[in-house]
Order: sequence, then structure tokens, then C-alpha cells
Amino acid sequence: MIVALIGSPTRTNVDLAFAWRAVGVDARILWPHEALRVLGPEDVALTRLDVLPTLDGVEPGLELVDELERRGVRVLNRPPGMLAAHDKLVTRDRLVAAGLPHPCTAHILPGCRPDEVELPCVLKPRFGSWGQDVLRCRDREDLERGLELLSSRPWFRKQGALAQELVEPVDADVRLVVAGDRVVAAGRRSAGPSEWRTNVTLGGRVVRAELPDGTDVLALAAARALAIDFAGVDLLPVDGGWTILELNGAVDYDRRYTLPGLDPYAAILEGLRIPHRPSARGTLEEGIGKEVVMTKTAHGKPARPGDEIVIAGHSVGDAPKTAVILEVLGEPDHVRFRVRWEDGHESIFFPGEDAIIRRPEPKRRAKASA
Ligand SMILES: Nc1ncnc2c1ncn2[C@@H]1O[C@H](COP(=O)(O)OP(=O)(O)O)[C@@H](O)[C@H]1O
Ligand SMILES: [Mg+2]
Repeated sequence: MIVALIGSPTRTNVDLAFAWRAVGVDARILWPHEALRVLGPEDVALTRLDVLPTLDGVEPGLELVDELERRGVRVLNRPPGMLAAHDKLVTRDRLVAAGLPHPCTAHILPGCRPDEVELPCVLKPRFGSWGQDVLRCRDREDLERGLELLSSRPWFRKQGALAQELVEPVDADVRLVVAGDRVVAAGRRSAGPSEWRTNVTLGGRVVRAELPDGTDVLALAAARALAIDFAGVDLLPVDGGWTILELNGAVDYDRRYTLPGLDPYAAILEGLRIPHRPSARGTLEEGIGKEVVMTKTAHGKPARPGDEIVIAGHSVGDAPKTAVILEVLGEPDHVRFRVRWEDGHESIFFPGEDAIIRRPEPKRRAKASA
């Protein structure tokens, strides 16, 4: 039985594949079209397609996942659930319909006057990620200025923006990771210096934490409401309780989110009912409340546009995956790249130990013929 992670070889996907192989699972990272070629009715496909760097949709290939399902592959994170998580407008509708707490959210169409928007609020894209283009507006002037700024974005012209009630105090939240009917990992996130958004891409820190009371029930209910099997659920504290900020269908995940007594990688397999050998790895009992720093370096750094990224094929699929760096984003200690993969699609890539960055040889100048 193959367990395929359908998506790019992101650091999280590579980590998942490695950890699952260590407990006897034939885990591979496959592009949707590769999955169609390789998978059959005895196999599992876990959709891990992310939003596009342009913040206006999902990486290509979701329709091929439908085809996998028609062929009898057991698909986890089915396309409707992925779309509900990636599109924050659909997330709102699903959570509200299920009676779950979610900050009040309005849709602002391009060209419309946002007279009804309650302040303070947060402006954000429907298909957002990495905290990109998420703006805090305290008053009408902020709002006008924010909309002015966003009106230059192609995603805004296509889909408008969401104006969401600002939940205060800002700058700390909790992320729970749900797999099937269990919470497999969690961590507290706090914003980096001079930042209010908690995204790790913006310098946010992750601290190991016990599950705050009541958060597990809420996270599981949120995943159920969206019909998603494996997702991150971000919660913000309100009035002694919690509200659901968003769900991440291609959640970035690592050992920083380990819960006491639980191997976070094996727990996902258990939650998703994927057979595997018992995990030999010890669980992490210590470290509650400590920040855990992850290595984010890659071989051959520092990288620059034009460099190539190679993810070796031994654990990720049939062939090595390669991409070219189009843009280096973020700050030096949490750098990320906008890359173009060999199939031509673009995504955001966080360097991990498994990524080799190489600089193509400069093309030899053709010798001038005499
Ligand atoms: N309504 C809100 N109230 C308080 N903080 C918010 C709100 N919306 C977003 N944030 C902050 O901004 C960050 C990014 O917003 P989020 O909606 O999660 O978008 P993204 O998908 O880009 O991560 C959150 O992690 C949180 O710290
Ligand atoms: Mg977020």
C-alpha cells in the first residue's frame, strides 16, 4: 500500500514522508498527475495542495484528485474539504452553519464602499497564507488606506477581500493539528518583535504547550464542519473561551507542535487509520513552554533567484523534484522562496535539510567563429 502526499515536496511533506517511512509506511510525495499513474484502489492519497503564491486559488491538480477517487483510491482531505479550508469565505460559511465560533467576517467586493464594515477589523485575502496581505485597520482612515493598497493586488481585483472583526488582544494564538478524530499536535504561537501577526513566516515563535481546556473539542468540530481529515486549526482566545480563526488544509507542521506523550507523526497515521508499525521513537515529555528552534538552512546557501532546488528522489516519489528560485522572500532567519517546479507551477517553498540548492553553471559564451 502506497500512502501518497499529493503536493509539492515542502519541508513538512518531506518530514511526514520520512517519519512515516520509519514506521514501515510506503510514503511518497507525488504530483497529482504522478499519483494518477501510480496509485490504485489499495492505496491512500492525502491531498496537500496549498494556496498559490498569488493568493488567488489552490495549486493545480485538485480535479485530478477527484479522478483518483473515482478510480477507488482512498482520498483523505478530499477536494471539497480542501477548498473549504483554503477559501476563508467558505470557511466562514461552514463554521457559521455548524454554529461554531468565528470572528464576524464580511466580503468586500472590488469597487464597493465598505461603509458597513465594523471597526477595528482585519483585511485579508480569501485564499491567504503566510500572513501575506493581512492588514489591521483600527479606524476608517486605516481601512481606506488598506483597501487602497490592496486594490493593486490581482487577487483583490478577482475576489475582493474579507473584512474580519479584530479579536483582541492580538499577537498570540494556539494551533491544533487534527488527524481524523483526534488532535495529534498543538503549540502556542506568538508574534515576532514589532509584529502583531503570529505567522512563523513573519518571525512568529512556536512554544510547546499543553492543550488548553476546551480547544480539542472545538478543533475537532471545526475539521468536521469543513469535512477535512488532516488540518491545522488556529484558535484565538476570547472572553475566557476560544474562537476559530482559520483552518489550514496544507498545514505546516514539525516537532515544535509535539504534545506531551504523543509522537506527532505516528499519531497522524493512527488518526487517519493508516496501518503502520509501532513507533520506536520516544515521545517528548519535557520542553513544555520552551521555544524550539528549527534549522532552516539548506546546503549551498545563500540562495538567490536563478538557483535550483533539488529534492532527492529516494523518499519523495519516483524521481527527484526540481525547482528554480524566482524570488527570495522573508527575513534572513526565516527565509522562503517563490519557486517554479518542473511542471511549470509556482509555490512557496521553505528550505529544509533535504533540499539541495545549487547554482547552475554560467552558460559558456559561444566561441566567436573566426
Ligand atoms: N480577526 C483577527 N483578529 C486577530 N488577529 C488576527 C485576525 N485575523 C488575523 N489575525 C492575525 O494575523 C495572522 C494571519 O491571519 P490569518 O487569517 O491566519 O491568515 P494567513 O492564512 O495568512 O495565516 C494570524 O495568525 C493572527 O495572528
Ligand atoms: Mg494563519
